[in-house]
Amino acid sequence: TPDAPSATPLLDWYDRHHRDLPWRVSPPMAARGVRADPYRVWLSEVMLQQTTVQAVKPYFANFLARWPTVRDLAEAPNDDVMAAWAGLGYYARARNLKKCAEAVATQHDGVFPDTEDSLKSLPGIGDYTAAAVAAIAFNRQAAVMDGNVERVISRLYAIATPLPAGKLLMKQKVALLTPADRPGDFAQAMMDLGATICTPKRPACSLCPFRGSCEALRLHDPEQFPVKAAK
Ligand code: ADE
Repeated sequence: TPDAPSATPLLDWYDRHHRDLPWRVSPPMAARGVRADPYRVWLSEVMLQQTTVQAVKPYFANFLARWPTVRDLAEAPNDDVMAAWAGLGYYARARNLKKCAEAVATQHDGVFPDTEDSLKSLPGIGDYTAAAVAAIAFNRQAAVMDGNVERVISRLYAIATPLPAGKLLMKQKVALLTPADRPGDFAQAMMDLGATICTPKRPACSLCPFRGSCEALRLHDPEQFPVKAAK
């Protein structure tokens, strides 16, 4: 039987193979207590919903150059923000982005709140974004779930419950696996692993830090996870 999964090999892998992305603080810096700017984390996570990392990069750079702080974005004319968003799609995200910036500026003195619950009370911030900002910007122990994380965790534990019902169990497993000392790096490591190794088709299991503990690999069929409900 495989070893019980542990975050340690994943974090070791992330320290060596993390993607250098403009909204990130590198793991050695994070280990010294340097945290990413919550504004940058929030902006990147909103942009990354339904849009790829490569497509987001130039938009992220442009937004930061024009509106370096959440207060700047709050004060920007709506039309300018919508024009800068053009091409990213899903324009409700841009409208909510502006509303959220205004709420942070006026109700929180321009400072992002630092808990999952308080973040969720802001316009346009749902479960995913609240957990991502809490974990990545504030190193809070939040379970960050997206499609990549669902794929990794469903394979690691060979979760047979189909989506969407299986999500609850997946979230419990992620919460149990999240290490108290590095929840932000853990969340980003899971995303990187899902994007580069634990891919939907032909995952590179021989390179995976979880290869000694992955239940789906032991069953010789990682691609069958996550299981989708029959239509
Ligand atoms: N996709 C969504 N959020 C991400 C992040 N923080 N790093 C990499 N890919 C992501």
